[in-house]
Amino acid sequence: GPLEEMSLPLFFGWFLLSSVQDKVRCTSMDFLKTLDTLEAFKKHLNDFTGKAEKEVDLEQYFQAKGTLHCTTKFCDYGKAPGAKEYAQNTTVKEFYGSAFELSLSALFVTPRTVGARVSLTEEQLLLWPADPEEEAGSTSLPRGSRAHITLGCAEHVEPVQTGLDLLEIETLQQERQQGEPIEEMELGSLTYYGEGRWLLTLREPICTPACFSSFYG
Ligand code: A2P
Repeated sequence: GPLEEMSLPLFFGWFLLSSVQDKVRCTSMDFLKTLDTLEAFKKHLNDFTGKAEKEVDLEQYFQAKGTLHCTTKFCDYGKAPGAKEYAQNTTVKEFYGSAFELSLSALFVTPRTVGARVSLTEEQLLLWPADPEEEAGSTSLPRGSRAHITLGCAEHVEPVQTGLDLLEIETLQQERQQGEPIEEMELGSLTYYGEGRWLLTLREPICTPACFSSFYG
């Protein structure tokens, strides 16, 4: 019945404290602002606009979506495969409501999404779902490679795309297609992976407190 369906959330994940959300958003905005002005970015502008000469304001191009979080398991109120098993997992139940420290190790931008890569600890990986389809499309990336925070999406793009974009970049990295090193920025080193895919590896990972919980919407 409808009550049973409501008993599982839309998703489980780590929710950033509101005070650090602002900090992360500012860092992301600064990065977009700087990226926008780089000659290397302008050279590849048609990845974003489809046209060579057009300008793009990256801060306007991406729209923020809700409260910042790192999804562990998308349950879709129980309709997603493995949702019930995940919700009943003893580790999930044990850590529900607990505080964690997430490490954001990189920022990435594609014509579809902007996000932050989250590097999970061994303990945090215990909360990562076991679903084999989770890292679909990628060959042999380590578990948790998809862990990320969606910072913004282009018009008509759903946030689920952010994780797929990150997996794509990591697959390219793993295939030893090193990408094209662009330059050292204040925040870290910037690499271009073609087709509008940019990765900024942070010199100092951003550590942020986050609560493991769920979202019903
Ligand atoms: P993400 O974790 O990349 O931000 P929506 O608002 O579209 O229903 O999504 C709610 C949250 O669940 C978002 O955070 C979103 O993406 C995530 N999400 C949506 N669909 C999926 C999916 N199929 N697999 C994994 N995560 C998903």
